[in-house]
Order: sequence, then structure tokens, then C-alpha cells
Amino acid sequence: MIKEIIFASKNRGKIEEVKKILGEQNFIIRSLLDYENFPDIEETGNTFEENAKLKAAAVYKKFNMPVIADDSGLAVEQLKGAPGVYSARYAGENVTYEENNRKLIEELKSFPESHRAKFLCTAVYFDGEKYIIAAGELSGNIISTPRGTNGFGYDPIFIPEGSQLTLAEISSEEKNKISHRAKAFNKLKQMIK
Ligand code: IMP
Repeated sequence: MIKEIIFASKNRGKIEEVKKILGEQNFIIRSLLDYENFPDIEETGNTFEENAKLKAAAVYKKFNMPVIADDSGLAVEQLKGAPGVYSARYAGENVTYEENNRKLIEELKSFPESHRAKFLCTAVYFDGEKYIIAAGELSGNIISTPRGTNGFGYDPIFIPEGSQLTLAEISSEEKNKISHRAKAFNKLKQMIK
């Protein structure tokens, strides 16, 4: 049976990825792009799980239908896990992805190569009663010169372990085979089917 779900996000990059991962033959996936006036949800949690739950609860309250939400970010080993839950606003509020990337490259200048990092994602499903939660991660290294134009966020400066290319140099199909978000949502998909 086809299930209608709303994805609590306005991030085009993420929405495209999640639609492909969950598969449009099983799910009708709405997103907050269909409701542009929906106010931004404050991410006041200290963990990806807390923030994903906050987003899911806020959207459920408004639409009263099953919600999926995620929170994700980059944790750099030499920076003790930063930018972490602050990944979207590392260089400040309302900054571009390029500004965040520049700040990260700058912060890492004083550290020796290589800069090990992980993308982390927690995905949740909420139907008004219980939260179903799944997590995923992708290990790799941060480079100091951005490469590639696909994807979003820190993709141009992240090389997955075992690869020569950044996440921005591979197709979305390739990224969806390995990404933190794909791992989290594939697990979640099995749990909510
Ligand atoms: P969120 O929308 O609060 O989950 O913020 C996630 C932020 O982490 C994004 O704005 C990006 O900066 C970063 N991020 C999360 N996932 C990815 C990814 O797959 N590629 C690149 N950056 C990502």
C-alpha cells in the first residue's frame, strides 16, 4: 500500500536524496517545500536525535499526518566532533555552503593531514504516538580544495574512505549507495514498511 508521508525539511538537496532512497513507488513524499510558509523549526537540541524529533513533532502538530525528519552533520576528529549539530550554521546564521566550507578549511589549517571526519545522520518517523529511530554514518577525509558540483553542503571537501573522488564529484545515485542519510533512511524504511 502506498503511504503518504511528509518530510520535515526545506533542503532541496536532502529532499531529492530521501525521495530516491525511500522510493516513490512505496511512498508519496511531501515536504515543507510544498508549504513554503511553514516557519523554520529551531534546532535547539544537543544531539542529532533530539533535533530530528523536534522537527518531526513540530510538523506532525501542524499536519496531523505521518512525518519523517532527519538531522545530520559533519563531525571532524581533530575538532573534537565539530561542527556536529552546528554544521548548517558553522560560519554563522544564514550563511552559504561555501562560507561553511571556507571556515572549516581555515580551522583545519593548523592541524596535520589527514583530517578524518564522519557524516552522521539520524532519521525518525513519527505517527503521533511513537518515534521510530535509525542512524547512519559515512567515514572519510576533509580536503582543503573543494572539488565537484554535485550534492550540497560539505560534499565538495569530503572524500569517502576508499574513494579518490569527493561526494560532489560522484552522481546522486552513487552517493545514495554509501551516504549516512541513505543508511539511516534505508533502515527506517524497513522499520516502517
Ligand atoms: P540539518 O538540515 O540540520 O540536518 O543540517 C545538516 C547540515 O549538515 C547541512 O546544512 C550540511 O551543511 C551538513 N550536511 C548534512 N548532510 C550532508 C551531506 O550529505 N553532504 C554535505 N553536507 C551535509
